[in-house]
Amino acid sequence: MADNLICGIDIGSSKIATVVGVNSVETDELKIIGFNTTTARGVRKGLVVDIKEATGAVEDSVEKAERMAGHKINKAFVAVGGPHISSLNSHGIVAVSNPQGEINEEDVQRVVEAAKAISLSSTRRIIEVIPRDYIVDGQSGIKNPIGMSGVRLEVETHIITASSTNLKNQERILSDLGIENQGFVFSGMASSEAVLTNTEKELGIVLVDIGAGKIDLSIYVDGALSYSSSIPIGARHISNDIAVGLRVSLDSAEKIKIFLSKSFDGKKKTSQINLKELDLPENLTEVSLKTLVDGIVAPRLEEIFKLIFEEIEKSGFGQQIPSGLVITGGGALTIGMLETGKRVVGLPIRIGFPEKISGLVDEILDPQYSTTVGLLLYGINNDFNDKDNFKNFGKILKDFKLGSSINNLKNFIKQFIP
Ligand SMILES: Nc1ncnc2c1ncn2[C@@H]1O[C@H](COP(=O)(O)OP(=O)(O)OP(=O)(O)O)[C@@H](O)[C@H]1O
Ligand SMILES: [Mg+2]
Repeated sequence: MADNLICGIDIGSSKIATVVGVNSVETDELKIIGFNTTTARGVRKGLVVDIKEATGAVEDSVEKAERMAGHKINKAFVAVGGPHISSLNSHGIVAVSNPQGEINEEDVQRVVEAAKAISLSSTRRIIEVIPRDYIVDGQSGIKNPIGMSGVRLEVETHIITASSTNLKNQERILSDLGIENQGFVFSGMASSEAVLTNTEKELGIVLVDIGAGKIDLSIYVDGALSYSSSIPIGARHISNDIAVGLRVSLDSAEKIKIFLSKSFDGKKKTSQINLKELDLPENLTEVSLKTLVDGIVAPRLEEIFKLIFEEIEKSGFGQQIPSGLVITGGGALTIGMLETGKRVVGLPIRIGFPEKISGLVDEILDPQYSTTVGLLLYGINNDFNDKDNFKNFGKILKDFKLGSSINNLKNFIKQFIP
């Protein structure tokens, strides 16, 4: 059987990243064969604000990734995030079709459909439906009800919705480039696929993706995604603060910020930082570490973590996340991130780097590409169909992967695909 080619496009606020991977059928290993990152244009806080500019940037990135991979990208999974994302948990209930027999795949599909029947304004669209827990005749905690006997089947689902206008804009970009959209994936969820362990998800954890323009949050409880949201602030705000505080351009501030996080671990006792090697146009050659870290960066990080803390409180899952926080996204590497986070949130924190891949591109093993890598990992579990509805049903199937019925179930679903 041929290996599967799988592609992902992350249209971020600071960069467009395109990745092409091959999922080996024999070894079940995901190998990156094409990758490109291009400076973003026409995107702000996860929203397309200039469709022509954004299309041009995506085209550049896609073409370069295609050239590297030696394959044309005809279809791709696409990340969406930002404050236009919201989520809710919905309950579905159905009578089992054959109460004398066993619960079958169709019952599961019906109960999830029942949970999806939420009132939604015409400006919103469901992008993900995740079954968190099944309940059979009042007994909860069931991950796979197929084959069980019962008369009443219930499901607790997590539903992620997005602004339909923004989705339409992204679809337009893809169709202009002749790329078929295999599905929108919430970027916080994609990043989780790349950086979280199953144990962390089981114990309860918060994934925080700090991008340039926004922070995406995914909370996992009992192994299932239970809360998704986004905060309209990002690592670009830290660069802005440095630009204002040191009276330099945003470009120079960005360079200083990256230099700082790469050169100092926060423990070094240097009072002055030598900036000569950055060759800044402002001729700034030295700056006080204390001014920069304690005076400019730390207060913004503190604000960011307070907002994250408030969001966790708002979710109602604050008492169910003993694994704490995993911070990823490019902003995760900001100097002082872990120290400030631990102090403000009071939970264990680690930085999440993308894992579970191999290939020739080391550059991709950086927190800013967690979403990008996650798109491929997500795609592997959903690549047997392209239709929106069935994509969601692919999520349901994922939970049954350990069960022996997976192939039967896939074949069952495939019957319905035109
Ligand atoms: N080594 C580093 N140290 C500090 N900050 C960094 C580092 N690398 C990247 N960043 C910051 O991370 C941000 C970019 O992160 P990322 O690539 O995850 O954002 P994005 O996906 O383009 O944006 P978004 O997710 O908000 O749409 C930039 O603000 C950049 O300054
Ligand atoms: Mg991002």
